[in-house]
Formats: sequence, C-alpha cells, structure tokens
Amino acid sequence: MTLNECMEQLALQPLFGVTGSDISQPAIEKARQGQFNARKLLGMDEDMKSRYFRPAERNTVEIVSSIRDRVCFTRLNVLDLDKAPMHGMNIIFCQNLLIYFRRWRRREIVKRLAERLAPGGLLVLGQGELTDWQPPGLQRVPSEHVLAWIKRQSDEE
Ligand SMILES: C[S@@+](CC[C@H](N)C(=O)[O-])C[C@H]1O[C@@H](n2cnc3c(N)ncnc32)[C@H](O)[C@@H]1O
Repeated sequence: MTLNECMEQLALQPLFGVTGSDISQPAIEKARQGQFNARKLLGMDEDMKSRYFRPAERNTVEIVSSIRDRVCFTRLNVLDLDKAPMHGMNIIFCQNLLIYFRRWRRREIVKRLAERLAPGGLLVLGQGELTDWQPPGLQRVPSEHVLAWIKRQSDEE
C-alpha cells in the first residue's frame, strides 16, 4: 500500500512485486488470504481504508486484488538465507523476528539480509531489534522514528 501510494504520487506505474516470507506454513496460508480483522485497521486514514480494503465475512476486511496480485509468499527459514534465491531487493522489511534470536545471531541475519539488497536498497528492522552495532556496508537512515539503513553503492566507502 505504501509503495503504491508513493508511486501514484510520483505518477509512476505501480510496477512492483512483494515477496512475503515466514518459516510457518500456516502463517503463509493465512497471509495469502489477505484478510484482516477490521480492528487492525483502527487508526488508519478513512481514504486509505476505502481505497485498499473491501468488507469480507463477519468482522473482516479483504485487501483489494490490485495489491494482492502483486504479493507472493514463500516459506523461508531466516537462518537459511544463504540458500534463498533472493537478490537485488530494493527494500527488505524484517520486523518482530530478530527478537527471537541472540545478539550474535541477529548480527549474522542482518549481514545476510544486507547481502540481498541492491546497492541503494533499504533495510528496515523493528525498533530496538538491533542495538549498538553498525552493519558493514550500510548507512543508517538518520531518523529516531525508524531503524533503517541504506546499502552503500559499491564505489562509496
Ligand atoms: C511476532 S511474528 C511477526 C510477524 C510479522 N513480521 C509482523 O511483524 O507482523 C514472528 C514471526 O516470525 C516467524 N519466524 C520465527 N522463526 C523464524 C525463522 N527462523 N525464519 C523465518 N520466520 C520465523 C514466526 O513464524 C512468526 O510468524
């Protein structure tokens, strides 16, 4: 939705794809349905709600097909990232996952994620999920509101 909004504002065609991953097959099946409890949308701008969601069964809403069709899902253990066929990603969101791992393991995972970014790509983690460490080859986005880095171009220091 956020990408779609940005591309519309820039008058660009929304030519993007999203891959969602999780180790849990039930979590993937649920995500594929694209249905959410209506309470999850509390606080969302009404205009966004009406453009991106349709009422579904009982208290649920469903994401519109123009967004759903851009998303695919795959089972992935984040500890096996070196075997994953994912390269040159423009944005990686990894939130509420690193909390399960010890500090040294978190750093290893972040290094593997960074390898999968395209130069200039963005890595976004959950707030507080990585502390006191600067991942090599990445430049911190200067904001207190987001924990994110941009991958340096290969000719940058
Ligand atoms: C707290 S949920 C967060 C889900 C989602 N990222 C979010 O922010 O709403 C954590 C998810 O991490 C998944 N998970 C746990 N260990 C994992 C691993 N080794 N590789 C990939 N996913 C894992 C769980 O199955 C669960 O769906």
